[in-house]
Amino acid sequence: MSQQLFDQYDRSYGDVVQGSIDFSGLKHDFFLQAKADLMREKIAAHFGMKKPDGLDLGCGVGAFHPYVRNYFARYCGVDISEKSIEQAKAARSDVEYAAHDGAQIPHADSSFDFVSAICVMHHVPPAQWSSFMREMRRVIRPGGIVCVIEHNPWNPLTRLAVNRCEFDADAVLLRAGKTEALMQETGLRNIESDFFLMLPWQHKAARAVERAFSFAPLGAQYMTCGEVK
Ligand SMILES: C[S@@+](CC[C@H](N)C(=O)[O-])C[C@H]1O[C@@H](n2cnc3c(N)ncnc32)[C@H](O)[C@@H]1O
Repeated sequence: MSQQLFDQYDRSYGDVVQGSIDFSGLKHDFFLQAKADLMREKIAAHFGMKKPDGLDLGCGVGAFHPYVRNYFARYCGVDISEKSIEQAKAARSDVEYAAHDGAQIPHADSSFDFVSAICVMHHVPPAQWSSFMREMRRVIRPGGIVCVIEHNPWNPLTRLAVNRCEFDADAVLLRAGKTEALMQETGLRNIESDFFLMLPWQHKAARAVERAFSFAPLGAQYMTCGEVK
């Protein structure tokens, strides 16, 4: 496997992200918790009491996993950066980590109920977006969910953070509409996008306001989910 961009950030990933968002006065933890809260709501609404088997595609060093591990029965993470996967493995033994070549996810068809790609697609060359989405769909069982969380290019503060982040030099941001179209092409159904990270607070009232306006492209990020029938 060739040396990957994120191999250089296996030990500094959190610090580099924090450096790019310092201007907001918010900690990386705030952003991770906001994603985890929205994911928990999606999982509860779709799967009820059942804990799904989950895969995090492009999981990096696994920074997100302490926030969501409990939502899943089995939980796996894969990434093209071998060094990031080594860091993730060293940090957690309750997640199954594997490096891969970026073309084929190293899991069989219909292995999971829920697959996420969190801030990954903007690092994937646009010519590969369709095949990336097909791979996500391939590993999902009927009734399962494909979930993409991405930066919202309409948000000027998001653009500022991306411009300040040294590992985002290659980033090609996707609008939610583009992510929805890719899911539609892949045959996913009931595709929905929720914008979030609009307000700099995480208490209940702030979350309620965010959810009420989740249809509007205001938040710093969005989550698009589609179902496999
Ligand atoms: C910005 S980091 C996000 C890491 C993690 N998802 C998070 O939110 O903390 C992007 C990650 O995507 C990975 N990546 C890029 N292209 C990929 C691909 N085709 N398949 C899997 N992972 C990929 C990179 O190696 C990197 O670890």
